[in-house]
Amino acid sequence: AIDPQFHENREQVDEHEGHAVWGPVDEPEELGIHGTHVAVDFDICLADGACLEDCPVDVFDWIDSPGHPESEEKADPAREAQCIDCMLCVDVCPVDAIDVDAG
Ligand code: SF4
Ligand code: F3S
Ligand code: ZN
Repeated sequence: AIDPQFHENREQVDEHEGHAVWGPVDEPEELGIHGTHVAVDFDICLADGACLEDCPVDVFDWIDSPGHPESEEKADPAREAQCIDCMLCVDVCPVDAIDVDAG
């Protein structure tokens, strides 16, 4: 499962579409965590898709991740600022790849 303390245990190494990327990153095998308020551990995500289907405010977009051992697509928290903290995505992800910091 995603480490809920990732912002203390990892370093921000990059930015993607306006959100943080938390390392380590070693493409294409290791992609790190995308997002801060809505954080998706790309190294755990296996492209189940439940988060994209269920998010009521359409926070996520698919992005391609060719060559990653878990899956060739990831759920990117492209619009994390729109999140209303409903926690649905956290509940439906089968591999606990998502952390939402509802405060
Ligand atoms: Fe969407 Fe709710 Fe997840 Fe926020 S907590 S990203 S609103 S499903
Ligand atoms: Fe990935 Fe979990 Fe969504 S596996 S696509 S973060 S439901
Ligand atoms: Zn991203």
